[in-house]
Amino acid sequence: MAMRSLLSDHSHYVESFRLFLENSTEHQCMLEFIQKKLPGILSSIGSGKSTINILSVGGGAGEVDLQILVEVRAKYPGVVICNDVVEPSDEQISAYKERVAKTENLENIKFSWHKETSLEYESRMKASKEVKKWNFIHMIQMLYYVKDIPATIRFFHSLLEPGAKLLIILVSGTSGWARLWEKYGSRLPLNDLCLYVSSAHIEEILDGAGLKYKSYELPSDMDITDCFTDGNRNGELLLDFLTETCNFSKTAPTELKNEIIRDLKKLEYSEKRDDKYFFNNNLSAIVIEP
Ligand SMILES: C[S@@+](CC[C@H](N)C(=O)[O-])C[C@H]1O[C@@H](n2cnc3c(N)ncnc32)[C@H](O)[C@@H]1O
Repeated sequence: MAMRSLLSDHSHYVESFRLFLENSTEHQCMLEFIQKKLPGILSSIGSGKSTINILSVGGGAGEVDLQILVEVRAKYPGVVICNDVVEPSDEQISAYKERVAKTENLENIKFSWHKETSLEYESRMKASKEVKKWNFIHMIQMLYYVKDIPATIRFFHSLLEPGAKLLIILVSGTSGWARLWEKYGSRLPLNDLCLYVSSAHIEEILDGAGLKYKSYELPSDMDITDCFTDGNRNGELLLDFLTETCNFSKTAPTELKNEIIRDLKKLEYSEKRDDKYFFNNNLSAIVIEP
């Protein structure tokens, strides 16, 4: 069996992504950033406005989006918030809608979902006469799935109102992810569905485009101990997520598998605490000015 990209099997991808969330502090570290830093960052987006327009690109199932909305509403009480979501996955949109339906105190927030990719949104906007502008746009853990990242950033940046902000969250250039992709990317089934990018690449793009931004490091880790027990189902799914490969344990050449397993225990990738291994899942939040 040949190795194939995890993204070629969407439900397998969602299953390993869910397990990744359970085993990592991914959403907790974002929550801390959203609660502690975001209110200050958003201090210019809504002054004197009766409506705040937010665009979530790749909003997933909405966990993080709702936390952002809590902070925006606390910062601007009584203001109407229009939250638009660009998200290509039906499954994610349904999960997002269910979450909204069972969450209390969302009055004053209007949700709209657009089942499309960022590129489809861009084409739709360019074809329509009126280009809508936004007070806050965020792209959280989604730029891996975009073909032309510089063009995508340029387009969404052009949609910022004065005083608005564009927030990008991605794995940090200092994370285990960036090291793993740098070393093994060429031997993994990279396809045009997923790019191995980190915050370091995004900062290069922003510097090249002369855009003004500020970066924040969000420390995070992921318990990968199960990856070292042969035949452990959770361990296999986590390895699939780490390598972005469907059934990595069963389809990877033995040599590659052994090398990766050996490396994952090393200090450049993981920290050992008691008998557990925690992979470096540090993220970067990059806030771009209009
Ligand atoms: C890793 S998830 C992140 C979801 C959410 N932002 C979070 O942090 O929990 C990536 C999301 O981007 C969506 N996505 C993939 N390709 C996309 C594209 N080209 N444009 C917009 N969203 C995309 C996926 O369907 C998925 O919901």
